[in-house]
Amino acid sequence: MSPAVTITGLHKSYGDLEVLKGIDCEVEAGEVVCIIGPSGSGKSTLLRCVNLLEQPDQGSVVVEGVELTDPDVDLNAARRGVGMVFQQFNLFPHLTVLENLTIAQRKVLGRGKAEAEGVAKANLKRVGLAGREGSYPAKLSGGQQQRVAIARALSMEPGVMLFDEPTSALDPELVGDVLSVMRQLAQEGMTMLVVTHEMQFAREVADKVLFMDGGSVVEEGPPGQVIGNPQHERTKSFLARVLNPNHQD
Ligand SMILES: Nc1ncnc2c1ncn2[C@@H]1O[C@H](COP(=O)(O)OP(=O)(O)OP(=O)(O)O)[C@@H](O)[C@H]1O
Ligand SMILES: [Mg+2]
Repeated sequence: MSPAVTITGLHKSYGDLEVLKGIDCEVEAGEVVCIIGPSGSGKSTLLRCVNLLEQPDQGSVVVEGVELTDPDVDLNAARRGVGMVFQQFNLFPHLTVLENLTIAQRKVLGRGKAEAEGVAKANLKRVGLAGREGSYPAKLSGGQQQRVAIARALSMEPGVMLFDEPTSALDPELVGDVLSVMRQLAQEGMTMLVVTHEMQFAREVADKVLFMDGGSVVEEGPPGQVIGNPQHERTKSFLARVLNPNHQD
């Protein structure tokens, strides 16, 4: 079986700044791959290239057999297979939870109202928010809003879910609920590519960890290896900083 996601030789520059310097990465169906690395290393840009929010300069991205980087690809159709969850939730503030979950299903997938609402309610239940259909985002905690954003992405029934630091904007006490929803998705067999600073989550849930620095993958492997026993100096110093933020070099 071919991998769910294959990224090959991916390059991206903004003007003179080369942000991705040839990234290769494979994610098998049902795998969770966590991407860690310092600020500015290109993690978000990599995810944004996987759902073509950014156009790579070179290289290819294949998701479930469809080459997104093929100039003739139907971009909207291809993007539908990839769900994305951002740090800042990006819910529509003027729409209820139910409307947030049904709008793209109706406009993009052409689902009728009843079907879209049925899918939305099932996914709200999945993230522990059954009964919150009528709430507006502002009435929810950050953790609840992020779980709504996850339910919204799931309602499009993507084959792959991308998460870009989904818990970084949350108060510490709200992080656990979001991580447990993600853990449950992983257990259900969702293919996930997750940028995160939550090393405990990466250790427990990831099948594979990529450490990025300066636009390249410096080290990759099972979490016990990359986080538990890193080989490269850059990985070691990054982990020392993340795992012990008060440490002075
Ligand atoms: N649209 C853009 N135009 C110009 N430069 C950009 C753009 N997007 C990102 N960059 C630059 O590319 C580099 C990588 O950014 P990216 O957001 O991918 O890093 P990151 O690893 O996600 O960092 P963080 O951990 O802070 O989120 C940074 O130097 C950033 O300033
Ligand atoms: Mg980022």
